[in-house]
Formats: sequence, structure tokens, C-alpha cells
Amino acid sequence: MRKKITIIGAGNVGATAAHWAASRGLGDVYLLDVVEGVPQGKALDLSQSGPIDPFPGLVVGTNDYADSAHSDIIIICAGLARKPGMSRDDLLAKNVAIVKSCAEQAAHYSPQAVLIVVTNPIDAMVYTGFKVSGFPRERVIGMAGVLDSARYRTFLAQAIGVAPRDVNALVMGIHGDNMIPLVRLANVAGVPVTDLLSGDELAAIVKRTQTGGAEIVNHLKTGSAFYTPGLAAVEMAEAVLTDSKRVMPCAAYLDGEFGISGCFLGVPVVIGSKGIERILEFKLSADEQAAMQESETAVRLQMAATGL
Ligand code: LAC
Repeated sequence: MRKKITIIGAGNVGATAAHWAASRGLGDVYLLDVVEGVPQGKALDLSQSGPIDPFPGLVVGTNDYADSAHSDIIIICAGLARKPGMSRDDLLAKNVAIVKSCAEQAAHYSPQAVLIVVTNPIDAMVYTGFKVSGFPRERVIGMAGVLDSARYRTFLAQAIGVAPRDVNALVMGIHGDNMIPLVRLANVAGVPVTDLLSGDELAAIVKRTQTGGAEIVNHLKTGSAFYTPGLAAVEMAEAVLTDSKRVMPCAAYLDGEFGISGCFLGVPVVIGSKGIERILEFKLSADEQAAMQESETAVRLQMAATGL
């Protein structure tokens, strides 16, 4: 039987995720939104691409959660996006109500699904999804690190003049301006980036990564990034559906890992059919550990603001 992926929120991120999920052949894609007509129209349009670029699944648009029943994966993208001058935190109050409603209804119809949360501020929204769904921690994953690390790898690749896929680099911590692009471990096919770029060049790339989302918001003016956020969520979904054991940085609920308990933060995880199958814990430097603690403090403030 084909796998079923429900994407909640038919805005730019959700529709782009639907596009990647369909074209990568992940299964039947259900695009769900409260706005009547938008998911139906976008799904119909996407399904009509099949004769030109064939894919194996259906693409269905709906306003009814009953249509999402028995999904293997639920991706929540619903919510407001940032405008110039807004931080991700400015979205919190509005988006917590939206994500609560989505997670409640989706979990009711698909109690065995793996839940991937994309809505900002991601670390608080994935916590909301976790609390509301009642799912075990391994089945609730926040998308942020795959996107942030992709940005970091892109900037490093451009500066060094190599193919982006040969750059291995990890962004941990909060999905916010204090995210932690690790310089110490970044490498090009095993060669440390610290031997290829100067300290100043690396510092500029770290800064650009941390503000990478805002850079795009400032260009677009009416919203935030969607191509890579949509793809990042699909990359995570594919790892679940294929039980690939891919290692990706994701927001995971920590229970003592990296000395932190009871909140979601970006860490490297192994993804398989059960969701997060393992958190890859490793020894952080004193600076990195301090940065993780700063992330934890910021995420705990967001969590308190959710009222959950
Ligand atoms: C960004 C948004 C998705 O980083 O937070 O582009």
C-alpha cells in the first residue's frame, strides 16, 4: 500500500512541500487547509503535472481532517509567516492557537503518524504539537536544523568554491538568531573548513546563517522562505518512510542529552520508521555548551508563552 502524507497549511511552505513530496514519489499527498478552495486548487494543479513529470501517488486537496485519516506522516506548516521587522517570536501567540488545533485534529485521525512541525517559532510550535498530540517524543520532530544547515553549507560552499553537497556542517540549538552553526566540526569531504577559510570569513558566514531567514524575509517583504523549508520537511519525511537512518539536525525533545531535559532543541538525530530513533550525543566544547544553554533559556521563554 502506498504511504500517506498529510500536509497541513496550503500556503507557500505547505504547497512547496506537497510538490517535493509528490515529485519524490513519497506516496499519496493530502494538502489540507481551513481556507476553502486553496488546497483543492493547488492539489488539482499539482496533480495535473503528472502526465509531464510522472509520480506514483495521488495529490488531494481538502478542508476536512477526516480525509487525513491513517496518515503515516503529518507535516504542520499552517500559521502566519514573518514580515520584515518581525521576529519568529512575534508569531507565537497566533500560531500556537493554529498549531494546537491542527495537532489535535491530526493526531485524532492518525494516532500512529510521525508529526513534523514546520510552523514558527519552530521550537515552541513543535513543543505545542508534542503536548497536544500526546505522541511519544520520538514521533514529534521539529524542522529547523535541516534548513539552517543547508543555508550554512550553501554559504560555505560558495566561499570555498566547492559543490554544496560535499560540505558537511551542522547547525544546532534554537531556530533563531542565536542558532549554533558549529565551525569546529564543519568540513569539506573531511577537510576542516578552518583550514580553508579565515576566521573573519567564517564569522561572517556564521552570522549570515543565523540571520538567513530574515535575509529572505527582507527581500520578499510579504512572507518568508519556502523552497528549502518545504524540501527540508520532505527530506525528513522521506527518511521516516524509507526507514533510512539518515542523520539530520532536527528539533528533538531532550531528556538529558547534552545536559538538557524537557525542551525541544536542534540536535543531530537518526531518523527511521519510528521517527527519531536516536539522538547522536557528542562532547561539546565549553563555548558550544554555553551556546546550547542560551538556546535552552530562549526556548523555555517561548514554551512558557505557549501556556502549555
Ligand atoms: C526561515 C523561516 C522558515 O528561517 O524561519 O526562513
